[in-house]
Amino acid sequence: MRQTSLVVVANRLPVDDTVAPDGACEWRRSPGGLVSALHPILHHTPATWVGWAGGTGPAPSLPAVDGVRMHTVPLSADDVREHYEGFANATLWPLYHDAVEQPVYHRRWWESYQRVNQRFAEAAAEIAEPGAVVWVQDYHLQLVPGMLRELRPDLLIGFFLHVPFPPPELFMQLPRRAELLLGMLGADLVGFQRAQAAHNFAQLCAKVLNVPATDRRIAVEDRVVRIGAFPVSIDMAEMEQLARRPDVVARARQFRADLGEPQHMILSVDRMDYTKGIEHRLKAYSELIADGHIKVRDTVMVQVVVPARERVEQYQVLRDRVEHKVGRINGEFGRVGEPAIHYLNQPFDRAELAALYRAADIMVVTPLRDGMNLVAKEYVAARVDNGGALVLSEFAGAAAELTQAYLVNPHDLDGLKLTLMHAKEAAPSDVTARMTAMRDHLRGHDIQAWARSYLTALDHTGSLAARLTTD
Ligand code: G6P
Repeated sequence: MRQTSLVVVANRLPVDDTVAPDGACEWRRSPGGLVSALHPILHHTPATWVGWAGGTGPAPSLPAVDGVRMHTVPLSADDVREHYEGFANATLWPLYHDAVEQPVYHRRWWESYQRVNQRFAEAAAEIAEPGAVVWVQDYHLQLVPGMLRELRPDLLIGFFLHVPFPPPELFMQLPRRAELLLGMLGADLVGFQRAQAAHNFAQLCAKVLNVPATDRRIAVEDRVVRIGAFPVSIDMAEMEQLARRPDVVARARQFRADLGEPQHMILSVDRMDYTKGIEHRLKAYSELIADGHIKVRDTVMVQVVVPARERVEQYQVLRDRVEHKVGRINGEFGRVGEPAIHYLNQPFDRAELAALYRAADIMVVTPLRDGMNLVAKEYVAARVDNGGALVLSEFAGAAAELTQAYLVNPHDLDGLKLTLMHAKEAAPSDVTARMTAMRDHLRGHDIQAWARSYLTALDHTGSLAARLTTD
C-alpha cells in the first residue's frame, strides 16, 4: 500500500533567517507567496520540504517548522548567480511574463540550471519513502520531475507552475525548449493556474515533441501525463483572523490618522518587479492629479514595494525608474507634509499589511502579467467588513475568479484612469455587493480547497487527499 508521506520540492524553504530579541539567529516560517500557499496542507500529513535556505555556502541544518521536516539544498555563489538569478529569473521569468523585459539567454546558465535541478532531484530521491508523493513547485525546477522519475520510478510525482505558461510564439524562443518540456512531462500531473496555460503546454508538446496531446492528457512513451488548471489561493481563515485582531483594527485607524484622515485612501502592494505594472499605475495616478480629478489633500496613495531579486540587473534598473517617477510626482504635486504618493520600499510584517488592507478604500493591483496575484486575494480576505474596492488587472490569474473586481487593462492608461475614478466614486452599495460576492467565492476556493483539488487529481487512490479532508 502506498505511503501517504509528502515531499514538497521548491526553490525556497518556507523559513526566514531572523534575529531574536536576544541577538540569537532564529528561523521562522516565512509569510506570503508560495510559502503561505503551501503551508496549511502540511499540517495534515507527514511531510518534508526540500529547498534552498537562501545565501551561499554549506547547508544549515534546520529544525522542523510546525512539524514539517526541512531538508536544505545548498547553493554556491555560482549556482545563485547562474541558476537563480540567471536562468530562472533573467531567462524564464521574463519569457513567461509576456517578455515585458527582454529574456537573456546564456549557455552557461542552462548548464547551471541542469546541475541545480539534478541536485534537487537527488535530494528528493534520497529522502522520499517508497511510493511517496513528491510535489515539485515552479519554474526554477522544471527538470526535476523528469530527473526524479529516472531515479525513483516508484514515486507519484506532481508538478505545479505558479507563473504563467507562455503561448508557443514566445516559448519557441527558448534554446533548450524540448528538454524543458520533457522535464515537466516526468510528472504524473502537471498543474497550471489557468486553462489557457495548459492549452499552451499541450500545443507545445505536440509541436516540439511530436507527441499526442490534448488539453487534458499527453502521451509520452508508455505513460499518460495529465494536465489541468488548479488556481492557487490563500489561507482565507488566517487572513480573516489577522484582520479581526483588535490591534490590527486599531493600527488601520492609526494609518488613516497618520495620513491626515483623507476621504480616500488608495493602496498598492507589490514585489519590486517589472511584471507588476508599477510604472503604468504611477503614470495614470499622476495624470489624474494633473487633470484635477484627484486632489492630493482628499486622496492619498500608499505604494508599498517589497524588495526582490536585488542583484538582477533588470530589477535594479526598475527600482531606479520607479523611484525617479515617485520623486518627480511628489516634487510636482506634493506639499509640505502631504506627499502625493507615500512610497515604502521595505519588507512588510503580515499584521501591518492586514492593517493597510483594512484601511484602504481602494486596492489597485495592476500587473501586466501575473500567474495569480495573491495580494488581490489577501485584500478580499482581509475585508471582513465587506468594504473596499478592488481594481484588478485582466492579466492577473486572479481576474478569472474575482470577476466582481473593477477589471482593467493596465496598458490602456485612459481606461486605467477611468476605472480608478469609477472605483473611487462608486456607491457604497455597489462596493459592498462586489466585495461580498468576491468573499463568497474565496471562501469556497481557499488554499485548502486548492491543495485538495490538486492532490485528489494527482493521487487516484485518494489516500493522501482523504487525509486532507478528515483532519
Ligand atoms: C513568485 C514565484 C515564487 C517565488 C516568489 C518570490 O511568486 O512564483 O516561486 O518564490 O515569486 O520570489 P523569490 O525570487 O524571492 O523567491
